[in-house]
Amino acid sequence: MRKRIRGRFVPGRTGPPESPKAAVSAVPRLVTNGGMHMIETAGVGNPAYTQCLPRTPDSVRTARRLVSSALHVWGMGAVEDAAWIVVSELMSNAVTHARLDVVRVTVTRMDDLLVRVAVTDQSRILPRSRPAGPEEETGRGLRLVAALCDDRWGVDSVRWGKTVWADLAAMGEPCGE
Ligand SMILES: Nc1ncnc2c1ncn2[C@@H]1O[C@H](COP(=O)(O)OP(=O)(O)OP(=O)(O)O)[C@@H](O)[C@H]1O
Ligand SMILES: [Mg+2]
Repeated sequence: MRKRIRGRFVPGRTGPPESPKAAVSAVPRLVTNGGMHMIETAGVGNPAYTQCLPRTPDSVRTARRLVSSALHVWGMGAVEDAAWIVVSELMSNAVTHARLDVVRVTVTRMDDLLVRVAVTDQSRILPRSRPAGPEEETGRGLRLVAALCDDRWGVDSVRWGKTVWADLAAMGEPCGE
């Protein structure tokens, strides 16, 4: 059962897909948007775009483009700046701290005012947000994510890895399609 708890690490099973192959490499439907290939998830549940990417630094930029494209499709440009930072931090973490060759970025419109940015990797090690001292050059990414999403972030763990997600609220006007 999928558990979503505000601002906490959430071990436990998620719903399907059950295998890394299905979750990280599945290709439900290819959509071309402004020259970019985005994968639209199946026509059930919340609208979402997702893309499987190599676990390399270059993929951070590709993930940002996916998120931006999706937000524009949904008329949710108001959260673009925050979403860019969030996806950059989550992708950078997957590149730096996870394992194996591929990761998956997914952006989901939870409702008219809420978007979820998520990165799935194949490491079972959970992120650990920690206070960073003034002299430390790292250890700030998750704190930044937490600040931007008002602590609405978490981890869905599976046997072979995890998805780290953050929910961003678009304040004010509901968006159109
Ligand atoms: N996807 C991940 N897989 C495994 N461990 C992770 C992952 N993301 C984060 N972590 C762990 O959580 C810690 C905190 O992450 P955080 O992003 O806050 O800092 P950082 O990545 O070390 O540095 P910074 O983001 O400031 O460059 C990391 O140092 C790492 O140990
Ligand atoms: Mg980081």
